[in-house]
Amino acid sequence: MRFVEGLRCRECGRAYPAEALHVCDYCFGPLEVVYDYERLAATIDRGSIEAGPRTIWRYRDLLPTAPAPELDLQVGCTPLVRAERLAAELGLGELYVKDDTRNPTGSFKDRVVSVALSKARELGLKVAACASTGNLANSVAAHAARAGMTSYVLIPSNLERAKVATTAVFGGHLLAVDGTYDDVNRLCAELASDRPDWAFVNVNVRPYYAEGSKTLAFEVAEQLGWQLPDHVVVPIASGSQLTKIRKGFHELVTVGLVDDHPVRISGAQAEGCSPVAQAFAAGTDAIRPVKPHTIAKSLAIGNPADGFYALEAARQSGGAIGSVTDQEILEGISLLARTEGIFAETAGGVTVATLAKLAAAGVVRRDERVVVYITGNGLKTVEALGDAVGPSAVIAPTLEAFAAAEDAETEGAAR
Ligand SMILES: Cc1ncc(COP(=O)(O)O)c(C=O)c1O
Ligand SMILES: [Zn+2]
Repeated sequence: MRFVEGLRCRECGRAYPAEALHVCDYCFGPLEVVYDYERLAATIDRGSIEAGPRTIWRYRDLLPTAPAPELDLQVGCTPLVRAERLAAELGLGELYVKDDTRNPTGSFKDRVVSVALSKARELGLKVAACASTGNLANSVAAHAARAGMTSYVLIPSNLERAKVATTAVFGGHLLAVDGTYDDVNRLCAELASDRPDWAFVNVNVRPYYAEGSKTLAFEVAEQLGWQLPDHVVVPIASGSQLTKIRKGFHELVTVGLVDDHPVRISGAQAEGCSPVAQAFAAGTDAIRPVKPHTIAKSLAIGNPADGFYALEAARQSGGAIGSVTDQEILEGISLLARTEGIFAETAGGVTVATLAKLAAAGVVRRDERVVVYITGNGLKTVEALGDAVGPSAVIAPTLEAFAAAEDAETEGAAR
């Protein structure tokens, strides 16, 4: 916060104060937080970060606000796991999984919400609100509960049962809207315009919210011994996370915390909601909105706010944006689970399956140090697995029955 200069329009460069603003009055471009990088470079170093808390707030000087202690759910510093068995299956070399299933509400959204609501407290905003595809709902409701804030969470009515239950349990106001996420988002934008003391985390405080995703880049670099990876694979819904991971890597170089090194950034979408992947494949800049139809409901944004910037980040960095079918998503979930012992939600299935495709196509290479971002926990989307998972047999509680089942299992494995 000490280093924030204000907000700036990404398109026309006009400057704005660091308030609850998110679009430029002149050109409707998105606003971004600007820092005094010179002063940052002169002030922070690896040691000062390493001495900080084991949460995202160890990077507080590179974030747009100080943490509000009453919101603290211990977010971030999730494991970076060397994934040798997954790498072997995919024909890759040095592969890591950034396991963000381990955040307090089971997704990377805890990072963005922790930052957005800390800023909301600083700005004196009273109500925490959001439009969500599920994970954001969990996180806003939990953080608001922790701080004793009122919350209004709006979701599409077709979300997974577990995502609804794990939001409702926190006791805020939860409204299911009969429509898609894009309908919910439009409604929230309308609501935000005449509720000046509400913080819609991904609408009127979006510039601050988005900055939370930079910590996914900061942590990976620190966990690699203050080095940048060669290639990262990131899921895309609105495209914010991917864009901010890129900004995070850039900032580390700018302030002198890591040596400059090119990072290729690839994106992952579900085929049933792949407007950014389609634009990438077509070689155009125009992202055509789609009506989502996929089991990856957390990524089901048909009209992605930061889609263009995600596309640009992938292209400029030499990455790609791939998409996968629902069947491939399920295979991706199972592949990650059986090789690394990590249970991801459908968004993770999208990312692993896209990584597999990009590796097979030679886009992600064996000689690269690769990080795949697994951003949500599988316990929230168990129903997507359907009948594909279950016991291989139901047996009587006898040694004979077990022996017969064991024979069948051994035969099955040999087959
Ligand atoms: C688990 C998970 N991963 C990734 C994303 C993508 O985030 P973004 O909208 O920043 O692209 C989402 C969005 O809801 C999500 O829930
Ligand atoms: Zn502008």
